[in-house]
Amino acid sequence: MKGAIFDLDGVLVDTAKYHFQAWQRLAHSLGIEFTEDDNEALKGVSRLESLERILEKGNIEKSVEEKEELMQLKNQWYLDLVVEMTAGEALTGAIAFLEDCKLKGIKIALGSSSKNAPLILNKLNIGHLFDAVVDGNVVNLSKPDPTVFLTAAQKIGLSPEDCIVFEDAIAGVQAAKKGGFYCVGIGTKENLPLADEVAHSLGEYSIR
Ligand code: BG6
Ligand code: MG
Repeated sequence: MKGAIFDLDGVLVDTAKYHFQAWQRLAHSLGIEFTEDDNEALKGVSRLESLERILEKGNIEKSVEEKEELMQLKNQWYLDLVVEMTAGEALTGAIAFLEDCKLKGIKIALGSSSKNAPLILNKLNIGHLFDAVVDGNVVNLSKPDPTVFLTAAQKIGLSPEDCIVFEDAIAGVQAAKKGGFYCVGIGTKENLPLADEVAHSLGEYSIR
């Protein structure tokens, strides 16, 4: 492995639960049921695409302007939850793993769908560890499209075969595999059957 590309939410930091809570609050405000299972399918998916899937589930149509307002509302609720977050909410072993990659001369990139990625990296104090940051502000195409990871590999000057992608989302694992990457799923084999291997956390994975 010459390069490591990390998803953010659910791989480096425990923010997936806040996305879930905020989406559930929004769905309920529209009278739409939204379970953990519904959420599983939305992990890694961009803000707009997530909203559109929730509206589709509730059979509700909204104009572009209304969707914009709903996304702002969800994001505000999400930010209200993450504002209190400290570096302690980095996931088990994540920061040590990044530092270990750095020591071993492995290039590090972020490959996230989130537009809030710069804020979260700041909160965790880990922005300086990354050679490249590719997030929802850079790439519009939502995972499972592989563009976010392909752009990340390009930015660290490596081809997909030389990089490992670390992902907790079904859509993210699909994106990595479509892009030709080896993919370590952060979760279980049951949740992420397409991953090349799985680990419960980065703390459990050793670089070979
Ligand atoms: C992904 C999360 O990392 O980013 C999704 O897994 C989220 O749950 C997506 O919807 C977009 O995030 P944001 O912060 O731009 O709303
Ligand atoms: Mg994720």
